Amino acid sequence: MVSSAIVYKRKPSELEAAGADRPALLLAWYDRHRRKLPWRPSAGERADPYRVWLSEIMLQQTGVKTVGPYFERFLARWPDVGALGRASQDDVLRMWAGLGYYSRARNLHACAVKVVRDHGGVFPDSEVGLRALPGIGPYTAAAIAAIAFGRRTMPVDGNIERVVSRLFAVEAPLPLAKPLIQQLAATLLGASRAGDEKSRAGDSAQALMDLGSSICTPKKPACGLCPLNDGCAARRRGDQEIFPPKLAKKTGALRRGAAFVVTRGPDLLVRTRPEKGLLGGMTEVPGSDWLTGLDDKAALRQAPRLKGEVRWHRKTGVVTHVFTHFPLELVVYTARVAGRTRAPMGMRWVPIATLQDEALPNVMRKAIAHGLGH
Ligand code: ADE
Repeated sequence: MVSSAIVYKRKPSELEAAGADRPALLLAWYDRHRRKLPWRPSAGERADPYRVWLSEIMLQQTGVKTVGPYFERFLARWPDVGALGRASQDDVLRMWAGLGYYSRARNLHACAVKVVRDHGGVFPDSEVGLRALPGIGPYTAAAIAAIAFGRRTMPVDGNIERVVSRLFAVEAPLPLAKPLIQQLAATLLGASRAGDEKSRAGDSAQALMDLGSSICTPKKPACGLCPLNDGCAARRRGDQEIFPPKLAKKTGALRRGAAFVVTRGPDLLVRTRPEKGLLGGMTEVPGSDWLTGLDDKAALRQAPRLKGEVRWHRKTGVVTHVFTHFPLELVVYTARVAGRTRAPMGMRWVPIATLQDEALPNVMRKAIAHGLGH
């Protein structure tokens, strides 16, 4: 295994010589091939910090294809940070539903509130200032600082990690290689001209993101089309696909539970999850605990207590969902109850026709669809 020190010792001058024109090659490629994305201004135009921030927070979750429609809906409803800061957290969570990691949506709202309250509705323009806002970590601060404010800093996401680890054949595995990759990635920033603090850092970063998603892909990279192929160490070795090597990830043990899909004519029984913790504040159908080794009978004992006779029907199959820290398997029980049955304490009936207005996480969408036979 080659450590970061060895990578430097092995070929510092070689790296510099081969890499001297990389930033310019990268920007020239970006100018011709940049993706049109809803949050990107046209070439040469100033980026709107609100759009950059909103897109970066959404992109922490998922890819550009999924984010596009969410971004457009948020922007149509809340065109600037002031409007978002005045929105209710519930409305923001509802609009976010389906993107996952709801703490991000709560932080998004808290951040807008803080920008309005403490910064007069103007985003801070430095990484340090941005880091002090809710939901903005080192990567996002660097991305906003570079893209919205032209600060000479390089945000490093998964795509950039892959491109850089190949370009320099970084053999140390992730996450150990992160500091080295960060350092190497910064060498790809275009040089700022004398007295020109507003560099094209944002374009350099987005060029690498685009390169990673379209050409320097995890499998079968299209090296023939890459503007940096000449000096790419992995390409020279011919083993591009092994980069970046990763330490084996420990995933949590499988948890099991039950979801109870109870209908009363056109209505569905739901409740709101506690504010704190996983999927905090989101809507769910009542369910059992999610535990490793929970059996169906124990789960059924946690069914909601409804007045009158309730006949539970166990749907065949299970609903699976993978959270960051554990995979989950849910069995789904269904029951139909009589017209005027009251919801147990802490629960409520909502018309199935208006479920799209609820902040339903994906795992619950799957459980409900399974229970209703959709
Ligand atoms: N992923 C994260 N930020 C991005 C951006 N600005 N453009 C494309 N992909 C991204």
